[in-house]
Amino acid sequence: MAEQDGLESMCRRRGFLWQSSEIYGGEAGFYDYGHLGTKLLENWKKEWKDFFLGLDENYHLINTPNIYPHRVLDASGHVDHFSDVMVRCERCGASFRGDHLVEEEIGENAEWMGKEEIEEKISELELSCPECGGTFSEPKDFNMMFKVSLGPTGEKSGFLRPETAQGTYINFRREFRALRKQMPMGLATIGSAFRNEISPRQGLYRMREFLQAELQIFFLPDKHEEVFKEKFEVIKDKKIRIKRADWKDTKEVELCELEGLAPFYLFHLGKIYEFYLDVMELDPEEIRVRELSEDEKAFYNKIHFDIEMDFDTLGGWKEVSGLHYRGNYDLKQHQKESNATLSVPTEEGKKIPHVIELSFGVDRNIWSLLDSGYHSNDRDWLDLPSKLAPRQAAVFPLVRKDGLPEKSREVFKKLEKDFRVTWEKSGSIGKRYARNDEVGTRYCLTVDYDTIEDNTLTIRDIERKEQIRVSIEEMNDVLSDLIEGKKGFEDYL
Ligand code: GAP
Repeated sequence: MAEQDGLESMCRRRGFLWQSSEIYGGEAGFYDYGHLGTKLLENWKKEWKDFFLGLDENYHLINTPNIYPHRVLDASGHVDHFSDVMVRCERCGASFRGDHLVEEEIGENAEWMGKEEIEEKISELELSCPECGGTFSEPKDFNMMFKVSLGPTGEKSGFLRPETAQGTYINFRREFRALRKQMPMGLATIGSAFRNEISPRQGLYRMREFLQAELQIFFLPDKHEEVFKEKFEVIKDKKIRIKRADWKDTKEVELCELEGLAPFYLFHLGKIYEFYLDVMELDPEEIRVRELSEDEKAFYNKIHFDIEMDFDTLGGWKEVSGLHYRGNYDLKQHQKESNATLSVPTEEGKKIPHVIELSFGVDRNIWSLLDSGYHSNDRDWLDLPSKLAPRQAAVFPLVRKDGLPEKSREVFKKLEKDFRVTWEKSGSIGKRYARNDEVGTRYCLTVDYDTIEDNTLTIRDIERKEQIRVSIEEMNDVLSDLIEGKKGFEDYL
């Protein structure tokens, strides 16, 4: 917890993120991103779009509203099924998620448990209210959607969307026609999702309003098998750390060794894994893929694997994204309830396309970067991938006199065109390094007296704390080679 407190405190002080409505005491489940947090978020979104929309020329981004009429979420099954089991303390009235109470006691995942199992466990384990020791009421299903009324008289009702996915399904027909009836067709959305979590907790992990980045791929399993086979061929030998539902432990295996999963599934699984290692630059030891059991799967999923990260600040393995094979459940439901034709013609007659969904919680992924990058030992520093870091470089004058501020300002102007860079002159040089270490600025450039003489400056690496000397003329090229990973800092020492 000390780790979580230290990171949260840094995030508040330096402008990354903090609980929303802070000056009114804060509201659980809602977070504000400050100037650095917003940059990190925007960089992550850009990399996510570049990577996943780049998987196929027929994968595209769309935007849809946050509110949907009752009918849409009734058809999708959310009105009937999108609930958690809630228990209330009969003495103090506090509400809890039943599975979380059980989980905390038994130390294993209890998300699969329904009302009856939770009631039995509460009685067997003799659980009482963590707030006041009172006894619990009978468990109830609690629907997590936020209901809203539409119009001045509230004659219509709707919901804040619990997932971005539904906006994509109800636009399938329009986009399929606009995109000249090509499949596989991918439609992605990045936007807010809203869930009235019973007990929002653990910072960005369980929020009531959060961001999702989701890509829905529409295809016909028989017809498009060859397309995905060809794509999968290129990555089939890639190794991933994975735990199947019936395995005791996590193993490292090649994708092609995984039985019972079709190429359309394996290709996207491999690519998600690659995103975590190559774009987010997470350590393979801190990422794993876990197959959900029949009881744990969401109501709409045929195959469901979660990608989990081993969080220091949140006590271990937690879900950050998922790959869901939803079959043709969603389009079938929307066709039935709207009467719109959502099937497509094939040689064997009309068929309703299937969907494979790549679903990322953006905030949880931002927390993964911060959790994994945060080091607090002899000093506090943040190890962020240069592509994602809010600041890639900082420029300082060694002292605030003798023309050094003016010279460093020229350097800043030259760098600003190519990099996310800041210029600072307040505080001592040591304080400026410390401030930038804390927010993950990988390279600090210092203009000193030698700069005036020979037009060179120092570049310091955040991790090594060592410096190299380069000329102002070549500094943009050196930085760009370092940031793009074409060269390592050690190559210049
Ligand atoms: N469209 C599928 C879907 O919404 P999900 O597993 O319910 O699937 C997808 O959510 C992702 O959204 C999760 O992997 C997680 O990263 C994120 N997420 C879900 N609930 C969240 C919450 N309360 N706070 C923050 N992120 C959440």
